[in-house]
Amino acid sequence: MKRRRKRVKVNYKNLFILIFVVAVLCFLVFLIFKKFNTSDSDNKNDNNKSNVVSDEVKDHLKDLGYSNSDIEVINSKVKKDDILSMENKNDNLVKYLGVKYFHIENIDRYDKYMDEENVSAEQAIMEVNIGIDKPFYTDIKTIDNPNDLLVLVNKYNALPSGYVPSDLIQVEGERMQREAGEAMLKMVEAIRNDGLTLNLLSGYRSEEKQTDLYTDYAASDGKEKADTYSARPRHSEHETGLAMDVSDGWYLEEYFEDTPEFDWLQKNAYKYGYILRYKKDKVYESGYVYEPWHYRYVGVEVATIIHNEDLTFEEYYVKYKGLY
Ligand code: DAL
Ligand code: ZN
Repeated sequence: MKRRRKRVKVNYKNLFILIFVVAVLCFLVFLIFKKFNTSDSDNKNDNNKSNVVSDEVKDHLKDLGYSNSDIEVINSKVKKDDILSMENKNDNLVKYLGVKYFHIENIDRYDKYMDEENVSAEQAIMEVNIGIDKPFYTDIKTIDNPNDLLVLVNKYNALPSGYVPSDLIQVEGERMQREAGEAMLKMVEAIRNDGLTLNLLSGYRSEEKQTDLYTDYAASDGKEKADTYSARPRHSEHETGLAMDVSDGWYLEEYFEDTPEFDWLQKNAYKYGYILRYKKDKVYESGYVYEPWHYRYVGVEVATIIHNEDLTFEEYYVKYKGLY
């Protein structure tokens, strides 16, 4: 008996969709592959290096006076062009290369800072990347992402003139950006459930309000003193709606660090996404006196990193967001 051949009917529409999906997937795989390769070479601060030391690189570094072991290290971490443009031996270079957030562009500033401040290579790199080697309020960048919950506002980074956060909510007698405010309400509920007292004294401030405050402080204490405890307008975290000053009473004073409320915040604030912004041992770096009352919302994930590693927000930026 003759077998009837089954005719396969080709559905061109489905075939086309299948080819299209496969092509998109291949393209995505290609992009992911490319991204991994790029970030790997970026991490090494090196796009055109090879682990094999070329004669050109070796001769150049030898002429500058580097040892063979230094040459290996430098070759593995610095771009060839940057190596070839070195004019002198830098006795700190190999030490610098051991620090993950070293940026060769800043090398002269690291050298100067290490000499002047008598600090380790790691500390010099950290602080120069933050910008501390430059006087406060001298090299100011205008922030281009003021609505970002991780916005970095300090004496080097100013909010755009006239900035007003778009989604402010009432947080007891103060205002904050919605996400920060909702987290603050949860935090105060928790601390009060533990039998403690927390008053919310100062949240969002408009640019005008910060201008008035700073102007008054500067008039009574002089600018130099006022700068140690008050941010200039456009430089206060309070203008972002992400910060709150808290107290067990009605004053913002250093005694607060001896209260059980402060102790509770030290142990728990990060669980609600808050960090203590102006720490006691970081007055020089922040340019502000110790403020045990000023809490800044950064979200739980980042607050946890900052808490676990005992960082300032600027240090977090250098380590995790490539600030330099
Ligand atoms: N007291 C803090 C630094 C502010 O004015 O924002
Ligand atoms: Zn404050």
